Amino acid sequence: MHITRLCIDGFKNLKKVDIQPDPSLNVLYGNNAQGKTNLVEAVWLCTGVRSFRGTKDRSMIDINGEVMNISLDFKNRFRDMKIEFCMAKPNIKEKNCRLNGVKLKAPSKLFGNLDCVVFTPEDLDISKGAPEKRRQFADLCVSQIKNSYAKVSSDYEQLNEQRNVLLKNICAGRSSADELEVWDVQLARMGAYISLLRYNYIKKLNIYASALYNEISGGKEKLEIKYCSTVFDVLEGRTDYKEDLSGDYLACLEKNRSEDIKAGFTLKGVHRDDIAAYIDGLPARDFASQGQHRSIALVMKLAQAYILREETDDAPVMLLDDVLSELDGSRQRFVLSKIEKMQVFITCCADSLPSDGKLKGKVFYIEKGGVTER
Ligand SMILES: Nc1ncnc2c1ncn2[C@@H]1O[C@H](COP(=O)(O)OP(=O)(O)O)[C@@H](O)[C@H]1O
Ligand SMILES: [Mg+2]
Repeated sequence: MHITRLCIDGFKNLKKVDIQPDPSLNVLYGNNAQGKTNLVEAVWLCTGVRSFRGTKDRSMIDINGEVMNISLDFKNRFRDMKIEFCMAKPNIKEKNCRLNGVKLKAPSKLFGNLDCVVFTPEDLDISKGAPEKRRQFADLCVSQIKNSYAKVSSDYEQLNEQRNVLLKNICAGRSSADELEVWDVQLARMGAYISLLRYNYIKKLNIYASALYNEISGGKEKLEIKYCSTVFDVLEGRTDYKEDLSGDYLACLEKNRSEDIKAGFTLKGVHRDDIAAYIDGLPARDFASQGQHRSIALVMKLAQAYILREETDDAPVMLLDDVLSELDGSRQRFVLSKIEKMQVFITCCADSLPSDGKLKGKVFYIEKGGVTER
């Protein structure tokens, strides 16, 4: 799929942006703090997923303005589509989202239409940083191909927090341990579903990522990415999350109850699982060099895009925010060669404009929230 027209007005500092991107490569360059990432973020909002940089609703509209309007036309495999996303002060909770002119109940209903993969400098640390980042990555990836997943995942988080409150109350003698039963049955069912979907996703991710890594390392190193469950010893070959996996999950919660009560939180569960990368059998988190971490991040992101393309039969739009200039020449060329057939937006500073004369596409210049084609 590819974006054919993008209009943004009043989103943060962006003013009267109206561009017709190239179906393949688009380079957006400008000095710092001119609105490059804001533009990427505006596109991302149209995917129906929360901001990748955690922008709050109240920070979305221009501080000096009253309204923001985003209008994005794109083509998927079948037809022309249009997404509109509008907000106005003071009722910022009332977001007006439309898909092909039809009003939607919430921005999350946009989900599953425009597919994007966003890659930022923070992602370069994915194999080095906290497990939470890797869980978020897995959750986003899974929800991009499985519509019902995002809701289960957010319900799980809510339920887990409520269970933690209850654990603290039990510890303080304000509640009885019997009250855990109802929570645990629900938590086990959701946790089993999340475990299974994440596990299957990471298995697929590993196939793509290890092949790409083999290429990027010139066949010298072998990458393996594995899902590490805190609940299940074995997930391979298991499919029945409703009975089989839920049962084991519940047994695990029950076994750990007294520990959980002492700790005041749930010690085992999908909220504590991790995704581990190994290079030649050694855990990357402890042993990989900075260059290896970057290569792992690259191939994970590329694998995410490939899986999306495989599952939806349509290539996602790639958003590379400030990330290309962080990579050395050979890694830059590698990434670009792997996404040649997709629409790509690359943001960079004026002085790191990719100088490769062969690059085909459009170049846009951003200054003070205004965009002009060069
Ligand atoms: N709600 C807002 N209203 C107006 N300007 C904003 C708002 N939020 C952020 N900005 C401005 O956006 C600019 C940063 O944009 P950003 O896209 O992050 O820059 P960069 O080009 O470096 O990626 C800053 O100048 C900041 O003041
Ligand atoms: Mg930026």
